[in-house]
Amino acid sequence: MLIAHTIPELRDALASHRHPSFVPTMGNLHEGHLALVRQARPLGDVTVASIFVNRLQFLPHEDFDSYPRTWDADCAALRTAGCDVLFAPREADLYPEPQTFKVHPDPALADMLEGHFRPGFFVGVSTVVMKLFACVLGASGGTAVFGKKDYQQLMVIRHMVQQFALPVQIVAGETSRAPDGLALSSRNGYLSPEERQEAVALSQALRQLAQAWCTATPPAPALEAHAMQTLQARGWQPDYLTVRRRSDLLPPAAHDGPGSLVALGAARLGSTRLIDNHEF
Ligand code: PAF
Repeated sequence: MLIAHTIPELRDALASHRHPSFVPTMGNLHEGHLALVRQARPLGDVTVASIFVNRLQFLPHEDFDSYPRTWDADCAALRTAGCDVLFAPREADLYPEPQTFKVHPDPALADMLEGHFRPGFFVGVSTVVMKLFACVLGASGGTAVFGKKDYQQLMVIRHMVQQFALPVQIVAGETSRAPDGLALSSRNGYLSPEERQEAVALSQALRQLAQAWCTATPPAPALEAHAMQTLQARGWQPDYLTVRRRSDLLPPAAHDGPGSLVALGAARLGSTRLIDNHEF
């Protein structure tokens, strides 16, 4: 696996390739990331991953400084997964000057859910992904694989690609889960052993919410409130548990039935904020 730290090094490494497939990450890789890399492999003539902890997408009180950086293990794991080129820019390589040009996604999509609780998050994500696409996929384009675990992020990126006519095909990867059903996430590493046992309750609550939505009569807000209260009673601090349309993440209309919906949730367990979703 070739490692490029600077944009010129990366461009040299990719010069003879016409269709990279790309998996952007912030490192601290787990099986979920590696599954995306394996999924990307047949989709291009060279498989590229990036590791860059993007300051722009963290709020001042969030975990930018403490975000786990596990360089050696990440490199070994990417090699095993079949990554050909790793782009790992230092901050000064990707942002040699303050990034004053930014991508502002449509607030109708980006200011709800995650964007409501993490203002500016999707500006930071869209800006870095646009820049990574420019570095990795360039003018001739390629394919990029994003996990469905970050459901709203995937949707924001799809809209960005469509609105800017980027020559990038976005492919969704299914969420990888631990045997008990917990969605794999770099932030799971923050959980104490007791919290780790409890953490699966978020995905269970989302499945139960989806089930109740399909079968029960109470109005939708009551089902969502009940799901939040159930988690609260177990010691969580939920930000949201909600059912939305997959197409635009807006609350479903009467005619939007199962097959077109997704239950999304974010909640804090101790000091760790987890997100998950369940399509139904
Ligand atoms: O999902 C992530 O890890 C990050 O948001 C991404 C897409 C790598 C941008 O920093």
